[in-house]
Amino acid sequence: MTRQSWAAVILAAGQGTRMKSDLPKVLHEIAGAPLAAWPTTLSRKIGCDPIVLVVGHGADRVRQRLDNEQLSFALQEEQLGTGHALLCAEPALQDFRGTLLLLCGDVPLLQQETIEAMLAMHAAEQASVSLLTAVVDDPTGYGRIVRDGEAVQAIVEQKDATAEQQQICEINAGIYAFEAPWVFEALQSVGNDNAQQEYYLTDIVAAANREGKTVRALVVDEEEVMGINDRVQLAEAAAVMRQRINEKLMRDGVTLIDPDNCYIDGEVSIGTDTIVHPNVHLRGTTRIGAGCIIEPGVVITDCTIGDRAHIKSGSVMAESTLGDDCAIGPMAHLRPGTNLAGSNKIGNFVETKKANLDIGSQASHLTYIGDAEVGKNVNFGCGTITCNYDGANKFVTTIEDDVFVGSDVQFVAPVKIGRNSLIGAGSTITKDVPPDALAIARSVQKNVEGWAKKNKKSKK
Ligand code: UD1
Ligand code: CA
Repeated sequence: MTRQSWAAVILAAGQGTRMKSDLPKVLHEIAGAPLAAWPTTLSRKIGCDPIVLVVGHGADRVRQRLDNEQLSFALQEEQLGTGHALLCAEPALQDFRGTLLLLCGDVPLLQQETIEAMLAMHAAEQASVSLLTAVVDDPTGYGRIVRDGEAVQAIVEQKDATAEQQQICEINAGIYAFEAPWVFEALQSVGNDNAQQEYYLTDIVAAANREGKTVRALVVDEEEVMGINDRVQLAEAAAVMRQRINEKLMRDGVTLIDPDNCYIDGEVSIGTDTIVHPNVHLRGTTRIGAGCIIEPGVVITDCTIGDRAHIKSGSVMAESTLGDDCAIGPMAHLRPGTNLAGSNKIGNFVETKKANLDIGSQASHLTYIGDAEVGKNVNFGCGTITCNYDGANKFVTTIEDDVFVGSDVQFVAPVKIGRNSLIGAGSTITKDVPPDALAIARSVQKNVEGWAKKNKKSKK
């Protein structure tokens, strides 16, 4: 491509009444990212700089949610139309000369190849305006493309279209490339003398034609330019996105037992030969290694997992790190700050939180390990509890290498257990234990001879 300088403006100021939501429309999510993040990410991948998001309805929340270094924001206080919205971005593009990509915050399925094809066409044809269109069965509600052969003469909105124009099935997708700063000058001449009394961005097409500039349209697949206006469309778009994500993973060597029932966010990465069973949710920045098995009903958010992990049914994990060869669950709960060095076993009904377990340590059943520093090859018996909280403050339990913890033990933190010691079953440990010791802290058993025979009522 000959032109090197691209900027992007993403329109996201509209209200989205049909979502019937307190949340601004562009913050509703598909595949783990808000709607407006998809065109933003796309613009970044294409190399646009700057990227300006025009916000209005719920501006503060949108800003807060999408805030990052690569984005600048322009405020459209009143939503006076798409043309007005683009003008609001002009101050942020004062010094920009080149091709301006205009995307919509509620069109998440657009693909990079499509935009690159439009930009290539725009450059090759030396166009001032290029746009994406689609031919649809039911064009109701969309702007119609009025053509004279190849040339696009104008875009007419549904409410302004004549009966004849309403028959046109080629619609405006609302995605454009413009030459800047020309587009801003031309927008000054666009008025709001139309059925909706809005400043229509679409009027730029007729304006370009009046000035003898070139306008080009690229016809694309309807699905890709689908705009989200209600929650039915939100679910449809989410399903398409899911399918794309899952197909890519399968082509890259991941087995999805039932791809229609895996919910994997766009940023998640999974190594080859990992098997993902149905009804698994992999969210956020989760990274999973090779050769893992993720059983049904597992929910993993923002975790890093090594190779050959076996995550059994019903386990829930967040913000945790696992080395290689770990076995988790069924029904385990790894809460934020759990770090397992490798070859660890965390069994059924075990909960961990802010706990570092070195290589080979395991807790197989019914245990809570919170605020704990645990060495290598520590074995937790069934029903171990770190009592980390006194109602006001949290305290740390430290357990050194090779400690064996009997069943039903409580560690009342802060407490430190020396290496290679053994904690007797049923103990409530309140004092530090030296290395290599046996610690028992439970009341001594007393047997009263004959008591039961005398006192227990025998069953008839
Ligand atoms: C617009 C197009 C129409 C096209 C359709 C595709 C115009 C006049 N019409 O119609 O030709 O077929 O998109 O979906 O452009 N927005 C703002 N500020 C505003 C108005 C809108 O930021 O003042 C944003 C919205 O948040 C949305 C986008 O612009 O992201 C499109 O707005 P929308 O109201 O959906 O446009 P339509 O009137 O449906
Ligand atoms: Ca729309």
